[in-house]
Amino acid sequence: MQDGVAAERHAAQEEVLRRGHDAAQRHLAARSGRPVAPSASDIEALSAFDIELPTHGTEPLQTLDLLETVGGPGTITSNGPRYFGFVTGGAQPAAMAAAALASAWDQNAALPVMSPTAAALDAVAVRWVVDLLGLAPSATGTFCGGASEANLIAMIAARDAVLAKEGWDVQADGLAGGPSITVITSAETHASMKKAIGLAGLGRDQCVLVETTPQGAMDSAAGLEAIAAVDGPTIVALQAGNVNTGHSDPFAELIPAAHDAGAWVHVDGAFGLWAAACPSRADLVAGVAGADSWAVDAHKWLNVNYDSALALIADGDNLARSMRADGAYLPSSAGERVPMNLGLQMSQRARAIEVWAALHTLGRSGVADLIEGSCALAERFAEQLVVGGAEVLHDVVLNQVLVAFGSDDMTDAVIDAVQKDGTCWAGGTSWPAHQPNARKAMRLSVSGWETSDADIDAAAAAILRCWSSLAS
Ligand SMILES: Cc1ncc(COP(=O)(O)O)c(C=O)c1O
Repeated sequence: MQDGVAAERHAAQEEVLRRGHDAAQRHLAARSGRPVAPSASDIEALSAFDIELPTHGTEPLQTLDLLETVGGPGTITSNGPRYFGFVTGGAQPAAMAAAALASAWDQNAALPVMSPTAAALDAVAVRWVVDLLGLAPSATGTFCGGASEANLIAMIAARDAVLAKEGWDVQADGLAGGPSITVITSAETHASMKKAIGLAGLGRDQCVLVETTPQGAMDSAAGLEAIAAVDGPTIVALQAGNVNTGHSDPFAELIPAAHDAGAWVHVDGAFGLWAAACPSRADLVAGVAGADSWAVDAHKWLNVNYDSALALIADGDNLARSMRADGAYLPSSAGERVPMNLGLQMSQRARAIEVWAALHTLGRSGVADLIEGSCALAERFAEQLVVGGAEVLHDVVLNQVLVAFGSDDMTDAVIDAVQKDGTCWAGGTSWPAHQPNARKAMRLSVSGWETSDADIDAAAAAILRCWSSLAS
């Protein structure tokens, strides 16, 4: 039986949670009636947050009220159907609800003993992702905060593994005095990959950068030549899904050659690796399953809540070598999957919960439909913009579209006008990103589960309207 104090506390908690839930529902319901980006006055109003730390607390309901009335209008509807910025999915309902429940559970997924439910879902969700992506059943991995972190985890594991083959124990002895490592990657490698290479002590500026095709994939012949030239410990960092064009490196040719040369192959597949889960697009990443490690986001194309990604590895021992942490108070957990010994974090959100919920709800065919649907919508987008006179700068094969509107200045102006117009949201880039003569482009990424034909038609019409009014 609850005593009076506990009952009162419970009732107060219930009220706060109901208030939070109602505010969340109101926010979601209001999305379709507002512009994708907040207005200048909504952004100005955020200054209401900028007060000194309250000396004596505030009622939770008041705190929530401020969040809803000031914070809500300042958000971007990046979880809506007409947001095409960066590579951004919106949490699908099952994932969102699972996240709310997970927040009430508030589990620490570091150790199985800390949450049997989190441990059970972690093991199943990793296995399902490995299966969906067509990797060998022996592959395993860890949840983490994003593909950037997954790339770092993989680079550390790769570094330690290639040096272990030389008899050098990085975890015990550090890098200084050890054999040096060659990293081969493409000139279009993602910024997070460069960062991971730097953070792993391998030198951002020491990489062998291989030239790409005009589509942004590593040039096969140049890649094979770079691999043939290696001598000593080597990591080849490839990419599934160029962040601008969506094109992937030629895995089927490069991975076997890299392995013949004794190299470790990592694949940054933040969003592009999901092509492997879609039979109609899987040929874009043919051969990718032969790599040694992969980074893939769940918070992008799988449409689960931030933040969520996986670092996957063909041989789990190579993760355990680098990520293990021991302490007298930590149970030995022999034979169990121990998340804190597979990644960078000890304490961690049970990210598997939402991924499990998304995959359980979608199933294999639902994931394939999600991926194919986005790709088909990207093609529709490109077609309509081309019919309207714009220029698409690459072959549209996945969910990414780069568009130019005449001169660089005009393209910049159209991007700015579209962001202000509010019908949809698109960012900008330069293409080819690594070339001095790169052209300005609008960058469209179709990644949200809610986007429909009608959203694409409305967005394409708005973009062309903004261009036409600038041109006249
Ligand atoms: C190819 C690629 N790699 C890595 C990342 C970084 O992912 P995250 O933002 O989840 O860290 C991105 C983000 O867009 C990406 O497109």
